[in-house]
Amino acid sequence: MPNKNESWGSRTGLILAMAGNAVGLGNFLRFPVQAVQNGGGAFMIPYLVCFILMGIPLLFTEWSIGRFGGKLGNHSTPYILDSMNSKPIWKYIGVFGIFTNIAVVAYYTYIESWTLIYVLHSIVGTFSGMDKEAVSTFFNHYVSLQGSDFGIPLFPLFSYVFVLGINVYILSTGLGGIEKVAKIGMPLLILFGVILAIRGWTMGSDFASAEFPEANAWDGINFLWTPQYSSLADPKVWLAAAGQIFFTLSVGMGSIQCYASYLKENEDIALNSVTAGFTNEFVEVLLGSAIVIPIAAGFLGMDWVLENAGFGMAFQTMPYLFQQWGPIFAVIAGVCWFGLLFFAGITSSLAMGTPWMGFMNDEFGWGKVKGAISFGLVALLMGIPTVLFYSYGYFDEYDYWGGTVSLVIFALLETILFSWVFGMNKGWQEINRGADIKIPLIFKWIMTYVTPVLLLLVFIGALITPENNDWAGAISNLLQGNAWTLDSGSLISKLTFQDIYLEMEANPLDTEFYKKKIFYSG
Ligand code: PHE
Ligand code: NA
Repeated sequence: MPNKNESWGSRTGLILAMAGNAVGLGNFLRFPVQAVQNGGGAFMIPYLVCFILMGIPLLFTEWSIGRFGGKLGNHSTPYILDSMNSKPIWKYIGVFGIFTNIAVVAYYTYIESWTLIYVLHSIVGTFSGMDKEAVSTFFNHYVSLQGSDFGIPLFPLFSYVFVLGINVYILSTGLGGIEKVAKIGMPLLILFGVILAIRGWTMGSDFASAEFPEANAWDGINFLWTPQYSSLADPKVWLAAAGQIFFTLSVGMGSIQCYASYLKENEDIALNSVTAGFTNEFVEVLLGSAIVIPIAAGFLGMDWVLENAGFGMAFQTMPYLFQQWGPIFAVIAGVCWFGLLFFAGITSSLAMGTPWMGFMNDEFGWGKVKGAISFGLVALLMGIPTVLFYSYGYFDEYDYWGGTVSLVIFALLETILFSWVFGMNKGWQEINRGADIKIPLIFKWIMTYVTPVLLLLVFIGALITPENNDWAGAISNLLQGNAWTLDSGSLISKLTFQDIYLEMEANPLDTEFYKKKIFYSG
Protein backbone atom coordinates (compact mmCIF):
# COMPACT_ATOMS: atom_id res chain seq x y z
CA MET A 1 0.00 0.00 0.00
CA PRO A 2 2.46 2.67 0.96
CA ASN A 3 3.28 4.35 -2.24
CA LYS A 4 3.21 8.10 -1.95
CA ASN A 5 1.21 8.64 -5.07
CA GLU A 6 -1.19 5.77 -4.79
CA SER A 7 -4.91 6.54 -4.69
CA TRP A 8 -8.21 4.68 -4.74
CA GLY A 9 -9.12 3.10 -8.07
CA SER A 10 -12.74 4.24 -8.14
CA ARG A 11 -15.38 5.87 -6.03
CA THR A 12 -17.19 2.54 -5.61
CA GLY A 13 -13.94 0.95 -4.51
CA LEU A 14 -13.30 3.71 -1.98
CA ILE A 15 -16.81 3.58 -0.52
CA LEU A 16 -16.83 -0.21 -0.31
CA ALA A 17 -13.39 -0.25 1.29
CA MET A 18 -14.43 2.39 3.84
CA ALA A 19 -17.74 0.62 4.48
CA GLY A 20 -15.83 -2.65 4.75
CA ASN A 21 -13.54 -1.01 7.29
CA ALA A 22 -16.54 0.00 9.41
CA VAL A 23 -18.76 -3.05 8.92
CA GLY A 24 -17.13 -5.71 11.01
CA LEU A 25 -17.49 -8.27 13.73
CA GLY A 26 -18.70 -5.40 15.91
CA ASN A 27 -21.92 -5.18 13.90
CA PHE A 28 -22.88 -8.81 14.43
CA LEU A 29 -21.18 -9.87 17.64
CA ARG A 30 -20.87 -6.72 19.72
CA PHE A 31 -23.96 -4.69 18.81
CA PRO A 32 -26.64 -7.30 19.66
CA VAL A 33 -25.00 -8.05 22.99
CA GLN A 34 -24.66 -4.38 23.92
CA ALA A 35 -28.26 -3.73 22.92
CA VAL A 36 -29.62 -6.63 24.98
CA GLN A 37 -27.49 -5.87 28.02
CA ASN A 38 -28.59 -2.24 27.98
CA GLY A 39 -32.31 -2.73 27.77
CA GLY A 40 -32.99 -3.26 24.06
CA GLY A 41 -35.28 -0.43 22.98
CA ALA A 42 -33.80 1.65 25.77
CA PHE A 43 -30.39 1.40 24.14
CA MET A 44 -31.44 2.51 20.69
CA ILE A 45 -32.20 6.18 21.42
CA PRO A 46 -28.83 6.99 23.04
CA TYR A 47 -27.22 4.95 20.30
CA LEU A 48 -28.77 7.02 17.51
CA VAL A 49 -28.08 10.28 19.32
CA CYS A 50 -24.42 9.29 19.71
CA PHE A 51 -24.29 8.43 16.03
CA ILE A 52 -25.43 11.93 15.05
CA LEU A 53 -23.56 13.97 17.67
CA MET A 54 -20.29 12.02 17.85
CA GLY A 55 -20.19 9.46 15.04
CA ILE A 56 -20.87 11.68 12.04
CA PRO A 57 -18.71 14.58 13.30
CA LEU A 58 -15.82 12.18 13.90
CA LEU A 59 -16.22 10.76 10.41
CA PHE A 60 -16.00 14.28 8.93
CA THR A 61 -12.99 15.03 11.12
CA GLU A 62 -11.08 11.85 10.33
CA TRP A 63 -11.73 11.90 6.61
CA SER A 64 -10.59 15.53 6.45
CA ILE A 65 -7.53 14.96 8.59
CA GLY A 66 -6.58 12.01 6.41
CA ARG A 67 -7.02 13.77 3.10
CA PHE A 68 -5.16 16.81 4.42
CA GLY A 69 -2.16 14.73 5.47
CA GLY A 70 -2.22 12.61 2.33
CA LYS A 71 -1.91 15.69 0.16
CA LEU A 72 1.47 16.23 1.81
CA GLY A 73 2.45 12.59 1.29
CA ASN A 74 1.72 11.39 4.85
CA HIS A 75 -0.16 8.17 5.51
CA SER A 76 -0.01 7.60 9.26
CA THR A 77 -1.48 9.62 12.10
CA PRO A 78 1.84 10.66 13.71
CA TYR A 79 2.86 12.34 10.47
CA ILE A 80 -0.61 13.51 9.54
CA LEU A 81 -1.29 15.19 12.89
CA ASP A 82 2.20 16.66 12.82
CA SER A 83 1.39 18.32 9.51
CA MET A 84 -1.60 20.10 11.04
CA ASN A 85 0.18 21.95 13.80
CA SER A 86 3.76 22.91 14.57
CA LYS A 87 3.77 21.66 18.19
CA PRO A 88 5.65 18.35 18.40
CA ILE A 89 3.18 16.86 20.91
CA TRP A 90 0.66 16.00 18.16
CA LYS A 91 3.11 13.70 16.53
CA TYR A 92 3.26 11.60 19.70
CA ILE A 93 -0.49 11.69 20.15
CA GLY A 94 -0.69 10.29 16.64
CA VAL A 95 0.98 7.10 17.90
CA PHE A 96 -2.41 6.12 19.35
CA GLY A 97 -3.56 5.74 15.76
CA ILE A 98 -1.07 2.94 15.23
CA PHE A 99 -1.04 1.26 18.63
CA THR A 100 -4.82 0.89 18.82
CA ASN A 101 -5.02 -0.90 15.50
CA ILE A 102 -2.31 -3.36 16.41
CA ALA A 103 -3.87 -4.13 19.80
CA VAL A 104 -7.30 -4.67 18.26
CA VAL A 105 -6.15 -6.54 15.18
CA ALA A 106 -4.28 -9.05 17.38
CA TYR A 107 -7.46 -10.50 18.87
CA TYR A 108 -9.70 -9.51 15.97
CA THR A 109 -7.88 -11.75 13.50
CA TYR A 110 -8.11 -14.54 16.05
CA ILE A 111 -11.92 -14.32 15.99
CA GLU A 112 -11.69 -14.02 12.22
CA SER A 113 -9.90 -17.36 12.13
CA TRP A 114 -12.68 -18.97 14.21
CA THR A 115 -15.23 -17.81 11.66
CA LEU A 116 -13.30 -19.35 8.77
CA ILE A 117 -12.88 -22.65 10.62
CA TYR A 118 -16.56 -22.66 11.56
CA VAL A 119 -17.45 -22.30 7.87
CA LEU A 120 -15.50 -25.49 7.28
CA HIS A 121 -17.13 -27.25 10.22
CA SER A 122 -20.55 -26.19 8.95
CA ILE A 123 -19.81 -27.63 5.52
CA VAL A 124 -18.52 -30.97 6.76
CA GLY A 125 -21.37 -31.23 9.25
CA THR A 126 -19.34 -31.33 12.45
CA PHE A 127 -22.27 -30.04 14.52
CA SER A 128 -24.96 -32.31 13.13
CA GLY A 129 -26.35 -34.55 15.82
CA MET A 130 -24.64 -32.61 18.64
CA ASP A 131 -26.84 -31.36 21.46
CA LYS A 132 -26.69 -27.81 22.79
CA GLU A 133 -24.19 -28.73 25.47
CA ALA A 134 -21.88 -30.44 23.00
CA VAL A 135 -21.80 -27.50 20.56
CA SER A 136 -20.96 -25.17 23.40
CA THR A 137 -18.27 -27.49 24.77
CA PHE A 138 -16.81 -27.78 21.30
CA PHE A 139 -16.15 -24.03 21.33
CA ASN A 140 -14.68 -24.10 24.83
CA HIS A 141 -12.31 -26.85 23.82
CA TYR A 142 -11.36 -24.92 20.74
CA VAL A 143 -10.40 -21.73 22.54
CA SER A 144 -8.64 -23.55 25.34
CA LEU A 145 -6.65 -25.40 22.65
CA GLN A 146 -7.74 -28.77 24.00
CA GLY A 147 -9.45 -30.15 20.93
CA SER A 148 -7.71 -31.41 17.87
CA ASP A 149 -9.68 -30.22 14.87
CA PHE A 150 -9.46 -32.40 11.79
CA GLY A 151 -6.88 -34.41 13.72
CA ILE A 152 -4.42 -31.51 14.05
CA PRO A 153 -3.37 -30.42 17.56
CA LEU A 154 -2.94 -26.71 18.29
CA PHE A 155 -5.15 -26.18 15.28
CA PRO A 156 -6.53 -22.81 16.47
CA LEU A 157 -3.00 -21.45 16.53
CA PHE A 158 -2.29 -22.62 13.00
CA SER A 159 -5.54 -21.25 11.64
CA TYR A 160 -4.78 -17.94 13.36
CA VAL A 161 -1.40 -17.74 11.65
CA PHE A 162 -3.02 -18.76 8.38
CA VAL A 163 -5.67 -16.02 8.53
CA LEU A 164 -3.06 -13.45 9.50
CA GLY A 165 -1.09 -14.65 6.47
CA ILE A 166 -4.07 -14.04 4.17
CA ASN A 167 -4.25 -10.50 5.54
CA VAL A 168 -0.55 -9.93 4.99
CA TYR A 169 -0.77 -11.23 1.44
CA ILE A 170 -3.69 -8.96 0.51
CA LEU A 171 -2.06 -5.96 2.17
CA SER A 172 1.10 -6.58 0.18
CA THR A 173 -0.90 -6.10 -3.03
CA GLY A 174 -1.83 -2.56 -2.03
CA LEU A 175 -5.04 -0.57 -2.28
CA GLY A 176 -6.07 -2.54 -5.36
CA GLY A 177 -6.18 -5.77 -3.36
CA ILE A 178 -8.14 -4.14 -0.54
CA GLU A 179 -10.66 -2.78 -3.04
CA LYS A 180 -11.04 -6.18 -4.67
CA VAL A 181 -11.75 -7.90 -1.35
CA ALA A 182 -14.30 -5.21 -0.45
CA LYS A 183 -16.02 -5.51 -3.84
CA ILE A 184 -16.45 -9.25 -3.40
CA GLY A 185 -16.90 -9.40 0.37
CA MET A 186 -19.39 -6.59 0.99
CA PRO A 187 -22.10 -7.73 -1.45
CA LEU A 188 -21.78 -11.33 -0.28
CA LEU A 189 -21.94 -10.24 3.34
CA ILE A 190 -25.15 -8.34 2.69
CA LEU A 191 -26.63 -11.25 0.72
CA PHE A 192 -25.81 -13.73 3.50
CA GLY A 193 -27.14 -11.32 6.11
CA VAL A 194 -30.42 -10.80 4.25
CA ILE A 195 -30.95 -14.57 3.89
CA LEU A 196 -30.45 -15.07 7.63
CA ALA A 197 -32.48 -12.01 8.57
CA ILE A 198 -35.45 -13.19 6.50
CA ARG A 199 -35.20 -16.57 8.16
CA GLY A 200 -35.08 -14.83 11.54
CA TRP A 201 -38.01 -12.52 10.87
CA THR A 202 -40.23 -15.24 9.44
CA MET A 203 -39.57 -18.03 11.88
CA GLY A 204 -42.13 -16.85 14.43
CA SER A 205 -42.64 -19.56 16.99
CA ASP A 206 -42.83 -22.47 14.57
CA PHE A 207 -40.01 -24.16 16.32
CA ALA A 208 -41.09 -23.65 19.88
CA SER A 209 -40.56 -26.99 21.52
CA ALA A 210 -41.91 -28.61 24.61
CA GLU A 211 -38.71 -27.50 26.27
CA PHE A 212 -39.24 -23.84 25.31
CA PRO A 213 -42.95 -23.28 24.72
CA GLU A 214 -42.57 -19.51 25.13
CA ALA A 215 -40.12 -19.11 22.28
CA ASN A 216 -40.91 -16.53 19.62
CA ALA A 217 -38.51 -14.70 17.31
CA TRP A 218 -40.68 -11.58 17.44
CA ASP A 219 -40.08 -11.25 21.16
CA GLY A 220 -36.48 -10.58 20.24
CA ILE A 221 -37.34 -8.05 17.56
CA ASN A 222 -39.88 -6.27 19.76
CA PHE A 223 -37.43 -6.12 22.61
CA LEU A 224 -34.87 -4.37 20.43
CA TRP A 225 -37.33 -2.11 18.68
CA THR A 226 -39.79 -0.91 21.28
CA PRO A 227 -38.42 2.45 22.41
CA GLN A 228 -38.16 2.87 26.16
CA TYR A 229 -37.43 6.22 27.65
CA SER A 230 -36.82 5.07 31.21
CA SER A 231 -33.08 4.56 30.94
CA LEU A 232 -32.32 7.81 29.11
CA ALA A 233 -31.13 9.19 32.42
CA ASP A 234 -28.71 6.32 33.02
CA PRO A 235 -25.08 7.21 32.17
CA LYS A 236 -24.29 3.50 31.94
CA VAL A 237 -26.51 3.13 28.88
CA TRP A 238 -25.10 6.29 27.30
CA LEU A 239 -21.53 5.11 27.84
CA ALA A 240 -22.30 1.75 26.29
CA ALA A 241 -24.01 3.42 23.33
CA ALA A 242 -21.09 5.79 22.78
CA GLY A 243 -18.62 2.93 23.03
CA GLN A 244 -20.50 0.93 20.45
CA ILE A 245 -20.65 3.91 18.07
CA PHE A 246 -16.87 4.37 18.28
CA PHE A 247 -16.07 0.74 17.77
CA THR A 248 -18.55 0.12 14.99
CA LEU A 249 -17.67 3.19 12.93
CA SER A 250 -13.93 2.53 13.44
CA VAL A 251 -13.45 6.09 14.68
CA GLY A 252 -10.71 7.02 17.13
CA MET A 253 -8.56 4.27 15.62
CA GLY A 254 -6.42 5.77 12.89
CA SER A 255 -7.61 3.48 10.12
CA ILE A 256 -10.07 5.94 8.57
CA GLN A 257 -7.42 8.66 8.48
CA CYS A 258 -5.07 6.25 6.77
CA TYR A 259 -7.62 5.19 4.13
CA ALA A 260 -8.61 8.83 3.60
CA SER A 261 -4.98 9.84 3.08
CA TYR A 262 -5.21 8.10 -0.31
CA LEU A 263 -8.00 10.43 -1.46
CA LYS A 264 -7.24 12.96 -4.13
CA GLU A 265 -6.97 16.58 -3.02
CA ASN A 266 -10.44 17.63 -4.17
CA GLU A 267 -12.20 14.32 -3.87
CA ASP A 268 -15.55 14.49 -2.04
CA ILE A 269 -15.55 13.88 1.70
CA ALA A 270 -19.01 15.04 2.74
CA LEU A 271 -21.06 12.51 0.78
CA ASN A 272 -18.58 9.62 0.80
CA SER A 273 -18.07 9.65 4.55
CA VAL A 274 -21.78 9.80 5.27
CA THR A 275 -22.46 7.01 2.76
CA ALA A 276 -19.89 4.73 4.38
CA GLY A 277 -21.23 5.59 7.85
CA PHE A 278 -24.84 4.95 6.92
CA THR A 279 -23.94 1.67 5.25
CA ASN A 280 -22.45 0.57 8.55
CA GLU A 281 -25.58 1.63 10.41
CA PHE A 282 -27.82 -0.12 7.91
CA VAL A 283 -25.89 -3.35 8.38
CA GLU A 284 -25.71 -2.95 12.15
CA VAL A 285 -29.21 -1.83 12.97
CA LEU A 286 -31.12 -3.84 10.38
CA LEU A 287 -29.04 -6.97 9.88
CA GLY A 288 -27.11 -7.02 13.15
CA SER A 289 -30.32 -6.99 15.16
CA ALA A 290 -32.18 -9.43 12.92
CA ILE A 291 -30.05 -12.54 13.28
CA VAL A 292 -28.63 -13.73 16.60
CA ILE A 293 -31.25 -12.28 18.93
CA PRO A 294 -34.45 -13.17 17.05
CA ILE A 295 -33.21 -16.62 16.09
CA ALA A 296 -32.12 -17.42 19.63
CA ALA A 297 -35.38 -15.97 20.98
CA GLY A 298 -37.33 -18.02 18.45
CA PHE A 299 -35.88 -21.25 19.73
CA LEU A 300 -35.00 -20.66 23.33
CA GLY A 301 -37.21 -17.77 24.34
CA MET A 302 -36.39 -14.18 25.20
CA ASP A 303 -35.74 -14.97 28.86
CA TRP A 304 -32.97 -17.30 27.84
CA VAL A 305 -31.49 -14.59 25.60
CA LEU A 306 -31.58 -12.02 28.39
CA GLU A 307 -29.76 -14.38 30.69
CA ASN A 308 -27.22 -15.67 28.19
CA ALA A 309 -26.55 -12.75 25.87
CA GLY A 310 -22.84 -12.72 25.29
CA PHE A 311 -20.16 -12.88 22.79
CA GLY A 312 -20.10 -16.69 22.78
CA MET A 313 -23.68 -17.02 21.55
CA ALA A 314 -22.54 -16.68 17.96
CA PHE A 315 -20.26 -19.70 18.18
CA GLN A 316 -21.77 -21.71 21.03
CA THR A 317 -25.46 -21.45 20.31
CA MET A 318 -26.06 -20.61 16.66
CA PRO A 319 -24.52 -23.78 15.16
CA TYR A 320 -26.79 -25.86 17.40
CA LEU A 321 -29.90 -23.87 16.47
CA PHE A 322 -29.13 -24.09 12.76
CA GLN A 323 -29.27 -27.89 13.05
CA GLN A 324 -32.93 -27.63 13.98
CA TRP A 325 -33.66 -26.41 10.46
CA GLY A 326 -32.75 -29.77 8.97
CA PRO A 327 -29.48 -30.96 7.46
CA ILE A 328 -29.52 -28.90 4.27
CA PHE A 329 -30.54 -25.56 5.69
CA ALA A 330 -28.17 -26.13 8.59
CA VAL A 331 -25.29 -26.11 6.14
CA ILE A 332 -26.65 -23.09 4.27
CA ALA A 333 -27.25 -21.16 7.48
CA GLY A 334 -23.84 -22.09 8.88
CA VAL A 335 -22.03 -21.00 5.73
CA CYS A 336 -24.06 -17.78 5.53
CA TRP A 337 -23.50 -16.91 9.19
CA PHE A 338 -19.81 -17.70 9.54
CA GLY A 339 -19.08 -16.60 5.96
CA LEU A 340 -20.70 -13.26 6.67
CA LEU A 341 -18.64 -12.91 9.82
CA PHE A 342 -15.48 -13.77 7.92
CA PHE A 343 -16.06 -11.12 5.25
CA ALA A 344 -17.07 -8.58 7.87
CA GLY A 345 -13.88 -9.40 9.76
CA ILE A 346 -11.36 -9.42 6.96
CA THR A 347 -12.42 -6.12 5.40
CA SER A 348 -11.91 -4.58 8.85
CA SER A 349 -8.63 -6.27 9.75
CA LEU A 350 -7.16 -5.12 6.44
CA ALA A 351 -8.05 -1.57 7.46
CA MET A 352 -6.29 -2.09 10.78
CA GLY A 353 -3.13 -3.19 8.98
CA THR A 354 -2.73 -0.07 6.88
CA PRO A 355 -1.80 2.47 9.60
CA TRP A 356 1.26 0.40 10.53
CA MET A 357 2.29 0.12 6.91
CA GLY A 358 1.70 3.81 6.37
CA PHE A 359 3.91 4.64 9.32
CA MET A 360 6.74 2.34 8.21
CA ASN A 361 6.58 4.09 4.87
CA ASP A 362 6.48 7.62 6.32
CA GLU A 363 9.28 6.87 8.73
CA PHE A 364 11.57 4.47 6.87
CA GLY A 365 10.31 4.49 3.30
CA TRP A 366 9.36 0.82 3.45
CA GLY A 367 7.34 -0.48 0.50
CA LYS A 368 4.21 -2.59 0.47
CA VAL A 369 5.77 -6.01 0.86
CA LYS A 370 8.12 -5.08 3.66
CA GLY A 371 5.34 -3.09 5.32
CA ALA A 372 2.85 -5.94 5.11
CA ILE A 373 5.27 -8.57 6.40
CA SER A 374 6.39 -6.41 9.30
CA PHE A 375 2.75 -5.77 10.17
CA GLY A 376 2.12 -9.51 10.17
CA LEU A 377 5.04 -10.13 12.51
CA VAL A 378 4.04 -7.44 14.98
CA ALA A 379 0.42 -8.58 14.98
CA LEU A 380 1.58 -12.15 15.53
CA LEU A 381 3.80 -11.17 18.42
CA MET A 382 0.91 -9.32 20.05
CA GLY A 383 -1.62 -11.96 19.07
CA ILE A 384 0.02 -15.19 20.19
CA PRO A 385 -0.63 -14.46 23.88
CA THR A 386 -4.34 -13.93 23.15
CA VAL A 387 -4.40 -17.36 21.54
CA LEU A 388 -2.35 -19.20 24.16
CA PHE A 389 -3.80 -17.54 27.24
CA TYR A 390 -7.37 -16.94 26.11
CA SER A 391 -8.77 -18.31 29.35
CA TYR A 392 -6.73 -15.92 31.49
CA GLY A 393 -8.52 -12.93 30.10
CA TYR A 394 -5.68 -11.70 27.94
CA PHE A 395 -8.16 -11.25 25.15
CA ASP A 396 -10.50 -9.03 27.19
CA GLU A 397 -7.59 -6.97 28.35
CA TYR A 398 -6.68 -6.14 24.74
CA ASP A 399 -10.28 -5.31 23.97
CA TYR A 400 -10.43 -3.01 26.96
CA TRP A 401 -7.27 -1.02 26.27
CA GLY A 402 -7.34 -1.18 22.49
CA GLY A 403 -11.00 -1.36 21.60
CA THR A 404 -12.53 0.69 24.41
CA VAL A 405 -10.26 3.17 26.17
CA SER A 406 -7.73 4.39 23.67
CA LEU A 407 -10.35 5.11 20.99
CA VAL A 408 -12.03 7.61 23.25
CA ILE A 409 -8.80 9.32 24.23
CA PHE A 410 -7.61 9.57 20.66
CA ALA A 411 -11.01 10.75 19.40
CA LEU A 412 -11.08 13.46 22.06
CA LEU A 413 -7.58 14.68 21.29
CA GLU A 414 -7.96 14.71 17.53
CA THR A 415 -11.27 16.57 17.87
CA ILE A 416 -9.53 19.24 19.94
CA LEU A 417 -6.80 19.44 17.33
CA PHE A 418 -9.20 19.70 14.42
CA SER A 419 -11.89 21.96 15.83
CA TRP A 420 -9.83 24.18 18.11
CA VAL A 421 -6.14 24.08 17.28
CA PHE A 422 -6.32 23.73 13.53
CA GLY A 423 -9.54 25.70 13.88
CA MET A 424 -13.10 25.00 12.83
CA ASN A 425 -13.15 27.68 10.12
CA LYS A 426 -10.27 26.05 8.31
CA GLY A 427 -11.68 22.65 9.22
CA TRP A 428 -15.06 23.44 7.73
CA GLN A 429 -13.37 24.47 4.49
CA GLU A 430 -11.46 21.18 4.44
CA ILE A 431 -14.66 19.17 4.89
CA ASN A 432 -16.48 21.06 2.17
CA ARG A 433 -13.77 21.26 -0.47
CA GLY A 434 -14.99 19.20 -3.42
CA ALA A 435 -18.14 18.24 -1.53
CA ASP A 436 -21.02 16.70 -3.46
CA ILE A 437 -23.60 17.60 -0.83
CA LYS A 438 -24.18 20.58 1.38
CA ILE A 439 -23.72 19.66 5.03
CA PRO A 440 -26.17 21.51 7.32
CA LEU A 441 -24.33 24.39 8.95
CA ILE A 442 -25.42 23.21 12.38
CA PHE A 443 -22.71 20.55 12.17
CA LYS A 444 -20.07 23.24 12.29
CA TRP A 445 -21.44 24.28 15.65
CA ILE A 446 -21.89 20.67 16.82
CA MET A 447 -18.30 19.86 15.89
CA THR A 448 -16.96 22.90 17.72
CA TYR A 449 -18.85 22.55 20.98
CA VAL A 450 -21.03 19.48 21.32
CA THR A 451 -18.74 16.71 20.12
CA PRO A 452 -15.70 17.66 22.24
CA VAL A 453 -17.82 18.09 25.38
CA LEU A 454 -19.54 14.73 24.85
CA LEU A 455 -16.21 13.03 24.26
CA LEU A 456 -14.88 14.53 27.46
CA LEU A 457 -17.92 13.26 29.36
CA VAL A 458 -17.45 9.77 27.92
CA PHE A 459 -13.83 9.82 29.01
CA ILE A 460 -14.68 10.95 32.53
CA GLY A 461 -17.43 8.34 32.68
CA ALA A 462 -14.96 5.58 31.86
CA LEU A 463 -12.44 6.99 34.33
CA ILE A 464 -14.70 6.96 37.36
CA THR A 465 -17.30 4.28 36.58
CA PRO A 466 -18.96 3.59 39.95
CA GLU A 467 -19.33 0.16 41.51
CA ASN A 468 -21.60 -2.12 39.48
CA ASN A 469 -22.12 0.70 37.03
CA ASP A 470 -24.80 2.03 39.36
CA TRP A 471 -24.68 5.76 38.72
CA ALA A 472 -27.90 6.69 40.47
CA GLY A 473 -26.79 4.86 43.60
CA ALA A 474 -23.29 6.33 43.53
CA ILE A 475 -24.54 9.88 43.07
CA SER A 476 -27.06 9.70 45.89
CA ASN A 477 -24.37 8.12 48.03
CA LEU A 478 -22.06 10.98 47.26
CA LEU A 479 -24.73 13.54 48.11
CA GLN A 480 -25.10 11.88 51.50
CA GLY A 481 -21.45 12.58 52.11
CA ASN A 482 -20.10 9.08 51.38
CA ALA A 483 -17.17 8.23 49.16
CA TRP A 484 -17.50 7.33 45.51
CA THR A 485 -16.70 3.62 45.12
CA LEU A 486 -15.10 2.73 41.84
CA ASP A 487 -16.04 -0.27 39.79
CA SER A 488 -13.27 -2.76 39.08
CA GLY A 489 -13.88 -2.00 35.39
CA SER A 490 -13.26 1.75 35.75
CA LEU A 491 -10.18 3.18 34.11
CA ILE A 492 -8.77 4.31 37.46
CA SER A 493 -9.13 0.79 38.90
CA LYS A 494 -7.51 -0.68 35.83
CA LEU A 495 -4.60 1.74 35.86
CA THR A 496 -3.92 0.98 39.51
CA PHE A 497 -4.44 -2.80 39.10
CA GLN A 498 -7.37 -2.57 41.50
CA ASP A 499 -9.37 -4.79 39.19
CA ILE A 500 -7.04 -7.73 39.75
CA TYR A 501 -6.87 -7.20 43.52
CA LEU A 502 -10.64 -7.07 43.73
CA GLU A 503 -10.98 -10.30 41.79
CA MET A 504 -8.37 -11.94 43.99
CA GLU A 505 -10.23 -10.84 47.07
CA ALA A 506 -13.39 -12.38 45.72
CA ASN A 507 -11.66 -15.67 44.84
CA PRO A 508 -8.77 -15.98 47.29
CA LEU A 509 -8.27 -19.68 46.68
CA ASP A 510 -7.45 -19.49 43.04
CA THR A 511 -3.92 -18.14 43.51
CA GLU A 512 -2.41 -20.16 40.67
CA PHE A 513 -4.89 -18.61 38.29
CA TYR A 514 -4.04 -15.10 39.40
CA LYS A 515 -0.33 -15.70 39.30
CA LYS A 516 -0.72 -16.61 35.66
CA LYS A 517 -3.12 -13.80 34.99
CA ILE A 518 -0.87 -11.15 36.48
CA PHE A 519 2.16 -12.58 34.81
CA TYR A 520 0.58 -12.80 31.38
CA SER A 521 -1.75 -9.87 31.25
CA GLY A 522 -1.26 -7.53 34.19
N1 PHE B 1 -15.58 -1.16 12.94
C1 PHE B 1 -15.15 -2.52 13.05
C2 PHE B 1 -16.27 -3.37 13.59
O1 PHE B 1 -17.37 -2.95 13.75
C3 PHE B 1 -13.95 -2.67 13.92
C4 PHE B 1 -12.79 -1.84 13.51
C5 PHE B 1 -12.24 -1.00 14.40
C6 PHE B 1 -12.27 -1.90 12.24
C7 PHE B 1 -11.18 -0.23 14.03
C8 PHE B 1 -11.20 -1.11 11.85
C9 PHE B 1 -10.65 -0.27 12.76
O2 PHE B 1 -16.10 -4.53 13.86
NA1 NA C 1 -19.02 -1.68 12.40
